[in-house]
Amino acid sequence: MRTTVGWLADGPATTLRQASLQRRDLRPDDIAVRVDHCGVCHTDLHAVRAPREPGASVVPGHEFTGVVTETGPEVTRFAAGDPVAVGNIVDACGTCAMCRAGQENFCHGFPTLTYGGTDRHDGSPTLGAYSREYVVRDRFAYPLPAGLDPAAAAPLLCAGVTVWEPLSALGVGPGTRVAVAGLGGLGHLAVKLAVALGAETTVVTRSAGKAGDAGGLGAHDVLVSTDPDRTAGARDRFDVVIDTISAPHDLAPYLRLVAMNGTLSLVGHLGQVTLQAMDLLVGRKKLSSAGSGGRPGTAALLDFCAGHGVTADVEVLPSARVNEALDRLERNDVRYRFVLDLSDLS
Ligand SMILES: NC(=O)c1ccc[n+]([C@@H]2O[C@H](COP(=O)([O-])OP(=O)(O)OC[C@H]3O[C@@H](n4cnc5c(N)ncnc54)[C@H](OP(=O)(O)O)[C@@H]3O)[C@@H](O)[C@H]2O)c1
Ligand SMILES: [Zn+2]
Ligand SMILES: [Zn+2]
Repeated sequence: MRTTVGWLADGPATTLRQASLQRRDLRPDDIAVRVDHCGVCHTDLHAVRAPREPGASVVPGHEFTGVVTETGPEVTRFAAGDPVAVGNIVDACGTCAMCRAGQENFCHGFPTLTYGGTDRHDGSPTLGAYSREYVVRDRFAYPLPAGLDPAAAAPLLCAGVTVWEPLSALGVGPGTRVAVAGLGGLGHLAVKLAVALGAETTVVTRSAGKAGDAGGLGAHDVLVSTDPDRTAGARDRFDVVIDTISAPHDLAPYLRLVAMNGTLSLVGHLGQVTLQAMDLLVGRKKLSSAGSGGRPGTAALLDFCAGHGVTADVEVLPSARVNEALDRLERNDVRYRFVLDLSDLS
């Protein structure tokens, strides 16, 4: 085993403390990555704050960039010194229909999650990238394109690809009218990507204070969801609504924004939802969801972002301030993604 250092919440703790962590020795198709930057996703907050069994621990972090430090003997795609990016899945069965279709994120055997998962070879629990080193199967690491800032690119690997796949699958491009509900980590990247794809893009936010940022992100319009007149006026206006809201909420007001035959893609709150079938019936509207990305989709996103200069708006903090980052994320006080700089763990 290899020893590294990271940020861990154990037992019932709802905050993280620095701890020594074990990583596996490299398998033939593994690489070791020195983690330089890791984004703070709202999923990390859900994971740290969720009740856990006594003795269970979590090391969050599933969107990171860094540099390859070592390669297993079968690795040909990477060499020591290469800049890489890794997202929220680190393995899959490789043989099921989903994997064969390049949608490893939907693997029938369930993809191995970057943290909070179980390694499919040795059964060990996976520990995330709020840590100085990560060991990963080479095919689930991606070359970080030159020209993308490593800190601002880290959030592309979870937040970015999670909104990229539905935007792509729903054919968003010039002429599409897109609304993005919830202007946070996922939401602001959905706005930037939809704009770069050529769509007419509107921000839907309950935070009036964020309305002024919408134009800077490239959005063409903004609706403050607490203003009933504005939202009523936007009825049936959007071909695609990407809902990134992190809390349970009523879908009806967001379905009302969807145009005839259009789609509400729910990617934020992944728990139970209730809805009235009539809200779908009137206008033949569709409800969809998505999460993470397959290997081809993730590579395509990185390529697109390099070509269009798309990265996250980030506030970079030394990793020792991780608990402050989680507290501020919980209070909706971030524009628009915290990224931890792990170099203070050296
Ligand atoms: N599908 C997937 O695979 C996947 C991947 C990553 C994350 N997620 C989930 O996606 C969600 C968003 O993640 P994130 O990192 O983007 O979080 P975030 O940065 O905290 O953004 C969430 C946004 O939702 C809005 N919001 C929060 N509470 C709300 C409420 N009660 N009512 C209405 N709006 C509310 C806020 O936007 P405004 O201030 O603009 O209203 C907030 O900025 C989380 O639940 C996360 O677990 C899913
Ligand atoms: Zn995430
Ligand atoms: Zn599979």
